[in-house]
Amino acid sequence: MQTESSQPLNNSNKNRDYPWDIYTLKELVHATNNFHNDNKIGEGGFGSVYWGRTSKGFEIAVKRLKAMTAKAEMEFAVEVEVLGRVRHKNLLGLRGFYAGGDERLIVYDYMPNHSLITHLHGKLAADCLLNWSRRINIAIGAAEGIAYLHHEANPHIIHRDIKASNVLLDSEFQAKVADFGFAKLVPEGVTHLTTRVKGTLGYLAPEYAMWGKVSESCDVYSFGILLLEIISARKPLEKLPTGVKRDIVQWAIPYVQKGDFDHIADPRLKGSFDREQLKEVIMISMKCTDSNPENRPSMLEVVDWLKGTGLPAGSRKKEIRIVKSAVDGYDDEDEDEAYDDEDDETDFEELGTVSARTKRI
Ligand SMILES: Nc1ncnc2c1ncn2[C@@H]1O[C@H](COP(=O)(O)OP(=O)(O)O)[C@@H](O)[C@H]1O
Ligand SMILES: [Mg+2]
Repeated sequence: MQTESSQPLNNSNKNRDYPWDIYTLKELVHATNNFHNDNKIGEGGFGSVYWGRTSKGFEIAVKRLKAMTAKAEMEFAVEVEVLGRVRHKNLLGLRGFYAGGDERLIVYDYMPNHSLITHLHGKLAADCLLNWSRRINIAIGAAEGIAYLHHEANPHIIHRDIKASNVLLDSEFQAKVADFGFAKLVPEGVTHLTTRVKGTLGYLAPEYAMWGKVSESCDVYSFGILLLEIISARKPLEKLPTGVKRDIVQWAIPYVQKGDFDHIADPRLKGSFDREQLKEVIMISMKCTDSNPENRPSMLEVVDWLKGTGLPAGSRKKEIRIVKSAVDGYDDEDEDEAYDDEDDETDFEELGTVSARTKRI
């Protein structure tokens, strides 16, 4: 992997036209006021994110690698590689990067309405900026972004960390799926890969959490959790007074069975939502979170259903009982904590070897 600032990042793509800019360190130091604490807008496993303004007047967000470990460098490389390949209205745009010495920086378009998590559970939750139509629109946008990764990007891309803090909102509250540090590129003909588990508690598909089986349907599962979270504003995992953790699907199922869909809607909506749409969205989330990956829809179907073409007859095939046991084995003190694994690789060589051993789930 080439990481000199003057060279393209990946030798295997020498002939490719890269759509991004390579920034100088000086430019980015200047834009972010020397990565001043006041400019910090986000913090993740990988590093801190800073707001900045370029000399040309563009607002940017700059992700700065915290420590130069092999793992962090790999995440940096994966994110730049993947983001450089994709262009879609619902994926966070990459403006450029810097790699030199001990600095690894990624430059994105700045998203003035922050992440979905800020509106659902964070600082902006009390402002109630997400009315029903915005929520539906965000759900459709995020679904379209993921559908593009699964069905249009070449090779196909599995995101592996779909969650509220990784869905950013632009000035019009359009969803932009972000954070590609854990993404997997899937060579053609491969149905699933077996890898070390990365991702976030509460959003992990059971077959992935338990056996490391990763396929597009793992993102579908995480999206189903996100859908329920968007409409209910409840967290994916909740600690009950007994100390037991309950996931959002387990919470919702009794209401779904009773047909009491209104109870699932965020009380802050104060009943201002389309009841039919609410029911459909809940049933879509139930299908996406089916414990059997084969019963989950594709993201293309999800996009169609969300756009109102209607859910086909028959609802969820199997109830989920498995999720709690799937996540119990993990150290889960922080609900927004990401799993890391040092020897998880994302390159074609590894995928080639893995693909030889894959079979259909
Ligand atoms: N382009 C951006 N515009 C505004 N905020 C951003 C942007 N990129 C990241 N952030 C903020 O920083 C947080 C961490 O960024 P993310 O890409 O998810 O990094 P990590 O890999 O560290 O989780 C996000 O949840 C969001 O709050
Ligand atoms: Mg993140």
